[in-house]
Amino acid sequence: MTDSKQPGRSCSISHVESMLCPVLIGRGAELSALTDALDAAADGRGGAVFVTGDAGVGKSRLTREAANAACARGFRVLFGRAVESAIPVPFRPITEALMGASRAGAVPDTPGIADYRAALGALVPEWSRPEDGDSEVSPVIFGEALLRILSAPEGPGSLLILEDLQWADPETLAIVEYLADNVARSHVLCLETLRDTEPSACLDLLHSVSARRVAARIEVPRLRRRAVVEMASACLDSPDVPRAVSRLLADCDGLPFAVEEILAAAVSSGELVHGPSGWEVNEGVVTGVPASIVGSVRNRLAALGPRANNIIVSAAVLGRQFDWRLLPDVAGVTESDVLQALHRAHSVQLIEPVTADGDTFRFRHSLTRDAIVSDLLSPERASRSERAATAIERNHPGLPGSWCELVAELRAEAGQPLQAARLLLTAGFRAISQGALTSAIDGLHDAQKLLANAADTDTMLDIEIDEALAEAFALSGDFKQLSLLADDLIPRLVAVGADPRRQALIRIMAASTRPEDNQAAAATHLNEARAIANELHDTELASRVDAVAARYALVTGDLDRAQELAARSLAAAEAAGLTGWAAEVALQSLDVIGRRERTRDLAAARAVFERAYQVAGEQGLGVWRIRMMHELATVDMLADGSTGRLREVRELAQHAGIVSIATVIDLQLANAWSLGPDLDLVLAAARKCERGATQVSAHRIEAMAICLQALVFAIRSDSQAVEQAAERAEAIMPSDPEVMLHSRGQIAVVASLFRDNVSRAARESSAAMAEYGPQALNGPQRGRGYYSAAQAPLLARGRSWALAALVQAADDGDAKQAIEQAERAGATAGWNRGCLAYAEAVLAGRAGHADRATALAAEGSACFAPFAPWWNHLAQRLVAPAALRDGWGQPVAWMREAAAGFEATGHTRLAGACRGILRKAGERVPRSGRGAAQVPPQMSRLGVTSREMDVFLLVAQGFSNSEIAERLFISPKTVETHVASLVAKTGQSGRRELVAHAARFAPS
Ligand SMILES: Nc1ncnc2c1ncn2[C@@H]1O[C@H](COP(=O)(O)OP(=O)(O)OP(=O)(O)O)[C@@H](O)[C@H]1O
Ligand SMILES: [Mg+2]
Repeated sequence: MTDSKQPGRSCSISHVESMLCPVLIGRGAELSALTDALDAAADGRGGAVFVTGDAGVGKSRLTREAANAACARGFRVLFGRAVESAIPVPFRPITEALMGASRAGAVPDTPGIADYRAALGALVPEWSRPEDGDSEVSPVIFGEALLRILSAPEGPGSLLILEDLQWADPETLAIVEYLADNVARSHVLCLETLRDTEPSACLDLLHSVSARRVAARIEVPRLRRRAVVEMASACLDSPDVPRAVSRLLADCDGLPFAVEEILAAAVSSGELVHGPSGWEVNEGVVTGVPASIVGSVRNRLAALGPRANNIIVSAAVLGRQFDWRLLPDVAGVTESDVLQALHRAHSVQLIEPVTADGDTFRFRHSLTRDAIVSDLLSPERASRSERAATAIERNHPGLPGSWCELVAELRAEAGQPLQAARLLLTAGFRAISQGALTSAIDGLHDAQKLLANAADTDTMLDIEIDEALAEAFALSGDFKQLSLLADDLIPRLVAVGADPRRQALIRIMAASTRPEDNQAAAATHLNEARAIANELHDTELASRVDAVAARYALVTGDLDRAQELAARSLAAAEAAGLTGWAAEVALQSLDVIGRRERTRDLAAARAVFERAYQVAGEQGLGVWRIRMMHELATVDMLADGSTGRLREVRELAQHAGIVSIATVIDLQLANAWSLGPDLDLVLAAARKCERGATQVSAHRIEAMAICLQALVFAIRSDSQAVEQAAERAEAIMPSDPEVMLHSRGQIAVVASLFRDNVSRAARESSAAMAEYGPQALNGPQRGRGYYSAAQAPLLARGRSWALAALVQAADDGDAKQAIEQAERAGATAGWNRGCLAYAEAVLAGRAGHADRATALAAEGSACFAPFAPWWNHLAQRLVAPAALRDGWGQPVAWMREAAAGFEATGHTRLAGACRGILRKAGERVPRSGRGAAQVPPQMSRLGVTSREMDVFLLVAQGFSNSEIAERLFISPKTVETHVASLVAKTGQSGRRELVAHAARFAPS
């Protein structure tokens, strides 16, 4: 950490004679793997490489060589390092890398990066702007931002080096993982170093990313004997290494670090001297070189003399890495004493400079520092730590950045646990505001432990720490922890006679954290909070309770109560002038009122959301403003199916870094389009949604996005893909009734129907509806579909019900009951009504009311008009046998049209089924396999159908199976079948030969 307030004071260390090896020994294979990875990145095939090995084996050295190679190729190189400390600082290595980018003049204002500027401001103050407003911060958002900065088009690529990740904080690791998952198609190489001899969270991460094959690992081995000698010769700058020196090196264990240390120790003890004829071993000195590195450190420290020794010991107390300008204060000496000591410690390889500005140094190895600190008696260590803490507080008022954590550590070391805990509380609040919730929670837990073990007590501090923890749990949506904490904290607040408002706020937090999943507890907390508000006659508190209670009522399906409470909190907020807390309460209330209205009167809902939008604008509440625009766009979509405004809001949300909103909109779009003809559009939106949902850990939305992909595969009859996607979705929320209702009740059924297996569809449908229907319908989450993450009834859950009715009608099952259930589930409009109308037609026909049945079928057909043609054709194919049997509708005309339609969209099985029905009805049947292409006589003679001819012509143009599938609107599996059949019919030996053969038919 450097301090810009002291310009001009910097410490530069001139070259001193050292035992550091000037050249790289060995490592040819490792280095070439790294340069290959650089070349691949330059080529747009980025990657993540973990360099692992023992401490001192040469990971950093190898990485440094890679950095040189990257610079030579014109790469941008960013660098960050994790630091060993009792209290990790969230995002430390990432912040360091970004600061480096900022110093090098990078400004996040190019398209694509600008979206993340607001989020980045939380890490790099230079990048924040007053107009940025609030944005969403989370590790993955920083990860995306970093990726964009690294991918900015400038030079051939970027290299990001993150060192010593065995010490990294959890947020940094989340970013490392995000990068590994997302760099494959970029010009970015991420290089991470990690000691693998000790367990660490990063090592676990490495195992998981390697298993996913998104990262490579380079294990740096120890040097062999011959390489050790070669290295010694390079260090000594002498072709001969005296035998006695080789003997000294026997203890180096193949570690380059040990080689340099042993040589340095030998020189400093006088055992190894540079005489007129080269290096000689002074036989008179025998005790000089101890076996261990710790011992060698001690020797060199002693050789510095007491004055310098004192200074270096103080430096060690500051940590492995330290700012030299603190040392005069900490050690109570002059600046020139410090500079001298640093020179000498550097010359004996105890320390090395870290940054180019020369302010920061580090001990060469963590062992170096540990060796020094562990020699201190604890009273001495405590008093030095205290001096260091005080010096830092004096030099860095307010303890910005990582100073806060460091001073906390020093205070703890100094035997001042209360002060340390208070600092950890400050650090915890900062982490919360950066979205680093895991670090915040860890740090606050440490603070709790410090207090628990302290001789003195500070009850209020203890409570404040728990209040901060409650906030972190609430933000991370961890109701379980929050509720446990609240149960413990609330009696303590009461016992110390704290302002009851504090208790009420904890309860409000608990009640607004996933109330849908914890109804009983939420109700209790709300009641208690309300009692406090009443007793205090506190309007603010009462209104906050009302607003949260309104949302709770909405979630539990008590819409009138929701309306009533929200109206009351809104009135109170209006009376209070709609600023500060009142603005927040007003927005929460309007949000509830708008959603309630949306279930019965879209125009009224629009008016409410418009008002909220205006309030948010006046109060400068950016996130709320975008939220309300989103609600308005949803009203548009519900009114007439238009998605234009939703798309606009999506862009805005993305721009402001509010990934959670953008992701919900992607789900809405995919859902709205999923019944239309453009399935590629659906897939694209659903995939985007899945990515965003993973980013913000929105599991339900992620599962739903995968369900929509599965639906597309089902319509395309790609059974394998359906199965895989359904499994993925179910694994995200195991046995969740809503997900199961989709995967089993809708997707599996649609898949069977498009394969024309009606009885199987009927079996699947009734099993799924019986098992998951009631749970999903009565489940706490979304009462009756009024409250949902996706705003619209979540992913049109009603579809399963309407489809079930249609399938039962087609399979002669209990259609009557299924229709009633669908109506109870509210699946009665649009596409759903289409299904129901056809099902009702079957029942009417069976009861002998042919005219009524005909009219109902016409209604069904009209309902399906806005959707992709296959839905109406499918419904008609399902009811045609009944229509023929009972004499209603136009089954023959339907089946002719459906057969042609299904042929055109590649649904050959369904086309076949339609022809089968016609044949049974005694009709002349159109020929099968009708594609668009004319079959030339020579192909026709071989029995090639016109659909196969379609495929053949595309094969000739060099399209892949999946491209052909897309063009002909059939599944890749079907293409495969056609290709196999073509290979057989044309007598070729395989696809490649078929392509060559087909090329003659390709249109020139
Ligand atoms: N192949 C090599 N040739 C020459 N010198 C080397 C080689 N490998 C390492 N060194 C030197 O040995 C010392 C220790 O290496 P380095 O700092 O790279 O180890 P490390 O694996 O990063 O250790 P740590 O886990 O402590 O970070 C450095 O001074 C480095 O320059
Ligand atoms: Mg290293």
